[in-house]
Amino acid sequence: MNVATDWTALREEFPITRNYNFQNHAAIAPLSKPAADAMAGYAHELAEAAYLHGTYYRVADRVRQSAARLINADPEEITFIKNTSEGINYVANGVAWITGDNVVSSTMEFSANVYPWLNLESRGVTLKRVPEEEGRIPFDRLAAAIDKRTRVVAISAVQWSNGFRMDLTRLGELCKEKGVLLFVDAIQALGVHPVDVRTMNIDFLAADGHKWLCGPEGAGIFFCKRELIGHLHPMAIGYLAMKHGFESNEIKVDLHDDARRFDSGVYNLAGICALGASINLLLEVGIDHAQKRIKDLTDRLAEGLLRKKWMVHSPRTPSEWSGIVSFSSEKHDLQALRKHLRSEFRIVLASRLGRLRASPHFYNSTDEIDQLLEALPASS
Ligand SMILES: Cc1ncc(COP(=O)(O)O)c(C=O)c1O
Repeated sequence: MNVATDWTALREEFPITRNYNFQNHAAIAPLSKPAADAMAGYAHELAEAAYLHGTYYRVADRVRQSAARLINADPEEITFIKNTSEGINYVANGVAWITGDNVVSSTMEFSANVYPWLNLESRGVTLKRVPEEEGRIPFDRLAAAIDKRTRVVAISAVQWSNGFRMDLTRLGELCKEKGVLLFVDAIQALGVHPVDVRTMNIDFLAADGHKWLCGPEGAGIFFCKRELIGHLHPMAIGYLAMKHGFESNEIKVDLHDDARRFDSGVYNLAGICALGASINLLLEVGIDHAQKRIKDLTDRLAEGLLRKKWMVHSPRTPSEWSGIVSFSSEKHDLQALRKHLRSEFRIVLASRLGRLRASPHFYNSTDEIDQLLEALPASS
């Protein structure tokens, strides 16, 4: 199937299009059809044959490979997590901190990327949050916040509120030069922008599948760079983290040499199957191709909003734009408008920090963008 060139055909892979003009992928995205089918297939097999066909851990290994391809990692550097927060906690609780160390982050971060670091206060580790400036994290300020006691920079690839995208290549270079570990919360970027852990010098990455990957909630990926696998202390181990099989009576802490050492017990296989199906669809479309399409759609939206005199709060420069368009107007009650758009036009947006937030994916049509623009009242 060459879905990459036919956006109309591709819409068939997203059943949500039959019901809604859904532009809220930065919140909880709809499942793609392949993801829903994979989940249903899993449920069906478990109902008919329990674990007896025994294929699903092999599927999980294939999903690991797809996830690795998505971020240019090795499959051995990937394991599954139940949400982004779990992956962040793996890092926050796994680094060998020394009292007086610090973590550099920003005030823009979604709280998932704040609490696990704040939780280190009792261990004498400080979280330094660089203030945002005009909807951006100023790179120079971030760089200046890194000092001799900084061990980790913890940043989102794309900010949840207005979609500001971090220049990860530049940040990765800086962290490497300063000998600081780079953790990336990639949930708002995977599925929209290429993320390459090698060229971006990313040490750790976490992302659940429920946003732009169009997978379910509760199944995500954690990446730990190969060289660091033995150095990040697993915060909660279990029998599946051990090299020797669970059938063995042996009790010996003998952790896997790969990222499976962060595992504990059984996997969320239904979720992982669905996540894998969605990632494969994205890989088939091609992330570069998807990115270009999302750029066209969000440009169309941002330009239309400006024409209608709305304020657009999302940076739209070539290195900063993302799939999120945040906009507001002092003339309108935005909560009431968001509800009206849904009830009257079946247009789904979010409201965040007192603004409306649209986040269309590649399968949204230009007609859907125009429909949103038409449904919005002018702001002048
Ligand atoms: C940047 C960012 N990180 C993380 C999350 C969600 O975290 P979790 O997968 O732990 O629920 C969100 C959800 O809005 C987010 O925008």
